[in-house]
Amino acid sequence: MAEWLKAPVSKTGIPQGIVSSNLTASATTMRILSIETSCDETAVALLNVTGPASKPAVTILGNSLFSQASLHEQYGGVFPTLAKREHEKNLPILLEQTLNEANEATEAPELDLIAVTAGPGLEPALWAGITFAEELGKKWNKPILGVDHMKGHVWSVLSSQEVELPALALLVSGGHTELVEVSDWHSFKVLGRTLDDAVGEAFDKVARMLGLPYPGGPKISALAEVARQKGKSPIFKLPRPMIHTNDLNFSYSGLKTAVLYKLKELGNIDESIKEDFALEFEAAAIEVLVAKTRKAIEESNIEYKTLIIGGGVAASKYLQEEFRNLAKEFSSISLKLPEKSLTTDNAVMIGLAAYVEATAKPESLNRPGKIIARGNLSISSQE
Ligand code: KG4
Ligand code: ZN
Repeated sequence: MAEWLKAPVSKTGIPQGIVSSNLTASATTMRILSIETSCDETAVALLNVTGPASKPAVTILGNSLFSQASLHEQYGGVFPTLAKREHEKNLPILLEQTLNEANEATEAPELDLIAVTAGPGLEPALWAGITFAEELGKKWNKPILGVDHMKGHVWSVLSSQEVELPALALLVSGGHTELVEVSDWHSFKVLGRTLDDAVGEAFDKVARMLGLPYPGGPKISALAEVARQKGKSPIFKLPRPMIHTNDLNFSYSGLKTAVLYKLKELGNIDESIKEDFALEFEAAAIEVLVAKTRKAIEESNIEYKTLIIGGGVAASKYLQEEFRNLAKEFSSISLKLPEKSLTTDNAVMIGLAAYVEATAKPESLNRPGKIIARGNLSISSQE
């Protein structure tokens, strides 16, 4: 677990400061209960966050997560109605665990805000979290903030480190591969994205072709690591799709198909050949991410101070190494990677994104009306 910054836990209502104008600079304190159900992870966290968004002091008072991955394995992906049912079943259990861990009364916990993922994700799964959050909001008379899951991946890095803007964020998950310009705490502009499969999805599909269980991403990167430790070099070459195109978009479906053809060509494969596939596939997938990120930095009119990498694929050790090398090429850029436990879906990042939004854009706390699940929500949306 991360070495969380220890901050004093102050028990406040929504802080007075939250409605003042320059909150990114002023210190405020919030206790946030956060809920994440966008895909197959059910997660609940209770955070105490204080200080400016650029350098918050974060105390994780309670944090619970249940992964449904093994239940979805037989479908080779996430089955939305099963995910919803499981979220509904597990949310009350995880809430109780989280509040117990935080030594909070389960009937009336000390809170300022309830944050819940509103999108993007699987709509039935998102609704499970939103409905649960709304019931709690009514019961405890607390405000609810709908949070963008991808902003959660961006701000996951704030759990233990500071961030200076403007930043470039590379988001690499099971559903997204995006380069995002973050010019302000609430201004996100998508510079490039995948035109077909997301990079994490390609990891999972290639793993399936190799007979590895879902979700295969971590297994592919572990096999590639074994190959590197054995000192292996690639024995065949896979394509680096779109690496030389004059834009910041990505494509991963061709790489996946190239693996399929190579597998057919080789016929029966043993454990050692699986390592060779993992090694070359991971190298190809990540080489394109690095090349497009370099291009985004070099071609921008903005001088980025920070490069943020967020999302499940950021757990790959090889990816981390390659981006550390890339960051060395730009002396003015500081690389921020999330703590390992916060690379894949979790509720802590949702609480952090809520804190950034509440401090940078306090009016978002007074947004009228119900929170709506938005499966295709884009990070650049102004709502
Ligand atoms: O961010 P995330 O938990 O969920 C989404 O928002 O999609 O990302 C999940 C993705 C999956 O595709 C998973 O296979 C991949 O992240 N992943 C990895 C690793 N750990 C998770 N990919 C490569 N290497 C890893 N160590
Ligand atoms: Zn995610």
